Amino acid sequence: MKILRVICSPRGTASESYRLSQTLINHLIDSHRGSDFIITERGVTGLSHIDADYAEAVSRRRDPSSAVAEKGALLQSEHLIRELENADCVVIATPMHNLMVPSTLKAWLDHVIQADRTFRITAQGKVGALRDRPVFIAIASGGTFTGDHAQQPDFLRPWLKTVLASIGLLDVTFFSVEGTAQKPDALKATREKTERESARYFSTHTPLPA
Ligand SMILES: Cc1cc2nc3c(=O)[nH]c(=O)nc-3n(C[C@H](O)[C@H](O)[C@H](O)COP(=O)(O)O)c2cc1C
Repeated sequence: MKILRVICSPRGTASESYRLSQTLINHLIDSHRGSDFIITERGVTGLSHIDADYAEAVSRRRDPSSAVAEKGALLQSEHLIRELENADCVVIATPMHNLMVPSTLKAWLDHVIQADRTFRITAQGKVGALRDRPVFIAIASGGTFTGDHAQQPDFLRPWLKTVLASIGLLDVTFFSVEGTAQKPDALKATREKTERESARYFSTHTPLPA
């Protein structure tokens, strides 16, 4: 089984979201005993934004008479798309930044959500071109954004679910450690709550084929 882990925090493997993603990966491995796992780590904090070559090539792709050479960020996009296509399961470790995904994750999405490659534009709207597969999102946030006592709106989950669906990734499950800015005891309780939720989820779900 091939897992692609997308690491979005500037704190990398020291981050809370990475920590949660590791909990999820441990559950995935435990719930598929007998399977071999290969984990590809995709850090996205150093990823360049899409460039003029990318924008030009994608916008002109539908008109073969004006096709431009595929170079620059487009080549990097192709590499990232193949990494995604190759995965049986995707785990995205991300903090919430300004109520949303961090710009690092947005940059990765701008690379892998590509017209006439990972989605097609039809009269009915965008149609995803990727094979669906389980996607787990591990979110860390300083404050809370779910439940009756949410301290802020949540633009992250609805937006991320919508853009992943646009390329065919519909099987998306979120877990979050919310309130990392709390005192250590409260943070410990929050982590334990999320660990119980994820343990419960994986006790009743076997997301990957045997
Ligand atoms: C630029 C920036 C923006 C942030 N915006 C939010 C926010 O809108 N809501 C929130 O709850 N926490 C916010 N935080 C706090 C982080 O979500 C929190 O520290 C989280 O635990 C970081 O996770 P990580 O360790 O995986 O990076 C922000 C942090 C930074 C650096």
